[in-house]
Amino acid sequence: MALIHSGFEIIPGAYLFSEVAARVKRFQQANPEREILRLGIGDVTRPLAPAIIQALHQAVDDMASAESFHGYGPDCGYDFLIDSIIENNYTAYGVRIQQDEILISDGSKSDCANIQELFSEDAVVAVTDPVYPVYVDSNAMAGRAGSFDGVWSNIVYLPCRAENGFMPPLPDRHVDLIYLCSPNNPTGSVMDKGELKKWVDYALENDSVILFDAAYRAYISSADLPRTIYEIPGADRCAIEFGSFSKNAGFTGTRCSWLVVPKALMGRKQDGSQVSLNELYRRRQSSKFNGTAYIIQRAAAAAYSPEGLKQTRAQVAGYMANAQLILETLEGMGMVCSGGTDSPYVWYKTPGGMDSWQYFDRLLNEVGIVGTPGAGFGPCGEGYFRLTAFGSPEDTKKAMDLIGKVL
Ligand code: MLT
Repeated sequence: MALIHSGFEIIPGAYLFSEVAARVKRFQQANPEREILRLGIGDVTRPLAPAIIQALHQAVDDMASAESFHGYGPDCGYDFLIDSIIENNYTAYGVRIQQDEILISDGSKSDCANIQELFSEDAVVAVTDPVYPVYVDSNAMAGRAGSFDGVWSNIVYLPCRAENGFMPPLPDRHVDLIYLCSPNNPTGSVMDKGELKKWVDYALENDSVILFDAAYRAYISSADLPRTIYEIPGADRCAIEFGSFSKNAGFTGTRCSWLVVPKALMGRKQDGSQVSLNELYRRRQSSKFNGTAYIIQRAAAAAYSPEGLKQTRAQVAGYMANAQLILETLEGMGMVCSGGTDSPYVWYKTPGGMDSWQYFDRLLNEVGIVGTPGAGFGPCGEGYFRLTAFGSPEDTKKAMDLIGKVL
């Protein structure tokens, strides 16, 4: 028998959303007649926009003739998609990004989990608490998180609570890597430019790298909130950004994403000399990844056509109408909430001081609502709960009519 990596020996239990799915499945098997209202995992429910479907059909046809067939594509993506990403997400906000600073991939979950491979085993990692579990799990599997006792001994947790407006405090010790997500999963809070500048300044002063997850950027409607960390001067020397088609264009099952690794961003070798993280990650991708399918990249590019933009923006607006209903309902019940504006998640204190799994079980058993227990996102998530706006309008309405029964 081969000895397994120590990181896999100590990783606890199941992945959060697998545990939620298992509990829902057990409930459904025991109560086949009960309706389930799914506001748990942040999975979209609307079909792909017509412009995207049309591009998919066209790309399938391309594969059917020798002249337009595509075999292996470029490891880091086709220029037609990279150019559209740059134009719509960076140039539009006054940010200059070059083609070879963008790397197309198959989803931000993989990108967020893979990026840590570039850094040393003893790199000190800071995460907000609560946090999207992939950042922590991927470092734990790589053996960088230490031992687990409810919290990981080597991870620096930055508590985000109602008292600090769910904004992470700067770490009180040196950290090498900082995962930030804005609009935040799970708290729904959004960093303004001043808040983000604080982090860019910290990272530049401390030679840290910010790993900035911008998967929910399409949900920002306030004009003065930053859409990308590169709106902050100096971020190109300290930050990697993750962008996704999952939440703005419904690609959770279709899979397409991108990373920005600026060429100005350097890492350090053992001998103290500098190395380009862009070159290193491109090197990693060329050995481990053969690129996102041509068909999928064509579909993603269609999200930026005039029709694609109109249709996907309408979908986002539909989800935001759900968010507003959730927020209004919970606040109407006197709940303390975060998110729901500029974000598809609403995060709130569980009623009556229930712990978050207790509340999860009660919502499911008593009214058939599935949400996500805050404790699954980290120790500071205990006593909180997350609902997603990605459900259908009908389910969201039914859930909001029922939720007040569990108090
Ligand atoms: C979530 O529910 O937190 C996210 O949908 C999970 C993901 O995007 O991987």
